Amino acid sequence: MHHKHLLLASTALSLASGESLAEVLASQNDSLSVLNSFLADEQAFINTLSNTPDITVLAPSNGALSSLPQSVVDRIGMDPNFLSALLNYHILNGTYYAAWLAGGGPHQLLRTLLGPAPPYAVVPGGQRLLAAGNGDDNVVSLRSGLQSAARVELTDFNFTGGTMHIIDSMLTLPANLSTTLLVGGYTAAVGALRQGGMADTLDGDDTPLTVLVPSNAGFAAVGSLVADMTAEDLQLVLGYHVVQGQVLYAATLGNEEGAQTLQGGDVTFRREDGGVFVNGARVLVEDVLVANGVVHIIDNILNPLSPKATPDPTLATQPPAFSGASSTGGIPFTTGVTVPPTDPPAAVTATAPPPPPSIPSAAVAPMRTAAAGVAAMVGGAAALWNL
Ligand SMILES: *[C@@H]1O[C@H](CO)[C@@H](O)[C@H](O)[C@H]1NC(C)=O
Ligand SMILES: *[C@@H]1O[C@H](CO)[C@@H](O)[C@H](O)[C@H]1NC(C)=O
Ligand SMILES: *[C@@H]1O[C@H](CO)[C@@H](O)[C@H](O)[C@H]1NC(C)=O
Ligand SMILES: *[C@@H]1O[C@H](CO)[C@@H](O)[C@H](O)[C@H]1NC(C)=O
Repeated sequence: MHHKHLLLASTALSLASGESLAEVLASQNDSLSVLNSFLADEQAFINTLSNTPDITVLAPSNGALSSLPQSVVDRIGMDPNFLSALLNYHILNGTYYAAWLAGGGPHQLLRTLLGPAPPYAVVPGGQRLLAAGNGDDNVVSLRSGLQSAARVELTDFNFTGGTMHIIDSMLTLPANLSTTLLVGGYTAAVGALRQGGMADTLDGDDTPLTVLVPSNAGFAAVGSLVADMTAEDLQLVLGYHVVQGQVLYAATLGNEEGAQTLQGGDVTFRREDGGVFVNGARVLVEDVLVANGVVHIIDNILNPLSPKATPDPTLATQPPAFSGASSTGGIPFTTGVTVPPTDPPAAVTATAPPPPPSIPSAAVAPMRTAAAGVAAMVGGAAALWNL
């Protein structure tokens, strides 16, 4: 009798400190019933994860999955490789407890298990996800592809191989360069890349890239010059904005770090007065994730003939790098460049909607059977470019 009780007690104890991922998922079924019924058909994935040590699972809540854009649902049903990439993008390489993420500052680059898997991801070391913590409490926001936002809402469900957080919105796989720029409204850059015959090449490039993308205002400021550029001129200028073979995240850039561009010349990154600069241009938006690398939005077009240009960090907007050029009023290259329509964004609010009643079969069935996807990766973009 006595021994039996002891035995039960110790079994309970070891379970409490060593639950499996499957057990932890099941224990949160109130928030995760849609995900759980979906994963019931993905046993191989769960088994692989169960044997992978040191991971963080970001599990989309019922609210997150019930507000998935139709285009994403369609793509999941159509393309098993897309689904696999998407699942792996929700797993971080490393055990990140909520307190650590909350205290880690506003710009943390985390590695996911989405390894090189063209065309979904071509980034060495795992496609990245950005996390921002606000310090005091356990508020952690995430930024994925197309600048989509998600929030960690329930935290630290530990299992033997790591921990799990429940998130209020599905993460968006980083898309190709053109799609990402269009959704962000960077239409001049897309138009210029198309006119220079470079858009498709860069979109489909399986070599990791860092792309410096001038804002529309940066193009407009030198409208008199760029409007007359030939495709060859554009290739030289825009090629000076592409570093091939290296994914240079802003957070890891050193001061005075140089990089060789596709055009042949070098650009130089600098950190001054809390800002990041490249040659004489200011980085306006750091670390926009794309399938094959990273994009930094800059405030001016770089001039390959002025590689020694330096910034004046006291100026909010840096002067154009082409002397004599001026604005002609409009934004060059944007004729015929249209921003794709986006589905209504998925849940990006701080509080999740209440778990919908009897959702599982209703939500999972279309995920599996849907045909004909449209604008797949564009869907669900809550394009929060100023996050
Ligand atoms: C989760 O909840 C759903 C709906 O309430 C139920 O059908 C399912 O069996 C539950 N799954 C687990 C693992 O408890
Ligand atoms: C996690 O990252 C390490 C390098 O930091 C790598 O060796 C390992 O293979 C990665 N794990 C997975 C499951 O991808
Ligand atoms: C999970 O583990 C971490 C680190 O040991 C701990 O801080 C946290 O309280 C644990 N969470 C739960 C729910 O036990
Ligand atoms: C870029 O992505 C869009 C949207 O997913 C797709 O329609 C287009 O074909 C892609 N371009 C290339 C060159 O892969």
